[in-house]
Amino acid sequence: MTAGQRVLVNGAGGGVGGFVTQVIATASTRSLPAVRAFGADQIVDYTAGPVADALDRPVDTLLNLVPLDPAAAAALAATVRPGGRAVSVASPVEPPTGAGVTALHMVARNDVADLAALAALVEAGEIRLDVSASYPLSELAEVHRRSEAGLVRGKVVIIP
Ligand SMILES: NC(=O)c1ccc[n+]([C@@H]2O[C@H](COP(=O)([O-])OP(=O)(O)OC[C@H]3O[C@@H](n4cnc5c(N)ncnc54)[C@H](OP(=O)(O)O)[C@@H]3O)[C@@H](O)[C@H]2O)c1
Repeated sequence: MTAGQRVLVNGAGGGVGGFVTQVIATASTRSLPAVRAFGADQIVDYTAGPVADALDRPVDTLLNLVPLDPAAAAALAATVRPGGRAVSVASPVEPPTGAGVTALHMVARNDVADLAALAALVEAGEIRLDVSASYPLSELAEVHRRSEAGLVRGKVVIIP
């Protein structure tokens, strides 16, 4: 990505989305304050209608952070300009053949050195974490239940 490009982040209110700023971001009402604080330039409420309808022109890059069914993924891919990129860390987002859009599916590698480098950036205040709550280890099962029910926003810290 280069300065001045338009980037659409689908699912910006989650734990991963908090690392991405100065973009067009999708968020529902519960994540609006957090996504605004992350620094999004434009916020689209994905519960109010198709995201593409809220954009006045195509984006250079789409970053998808949400598991989507094929129809929803195709609708989102259509927001990217020819020559742009559609990157997903959740379900793959495949632009139609001939659209001239590069599709990338990213899978994180568990790497201790990378994690240490990220922790150093957090400690230096270079990046901010969206921690919504902390729980003792004894409540881990309940935290999982709440997460599976969609009741957890941002990241949760478990204290041993
Ligand atoms: N590929 C990899 O290596 C890798 C690594 C880590 C995570 N992941 C995946 O990346 C995804 C994001 O992780 P996360 O930790 O950020 O998840 P998360 O904290 O659960 O956040 C996901 C966000 O998606 C939003 N959302 C839900 N349905 C949506 C829709 N239809 N359209 C737009 N936004 C929607 C919600 O936003 P609101 O709060 O605004 O409603 C929620 O905050 C997950 O699917 C996870 O499995 C992949």
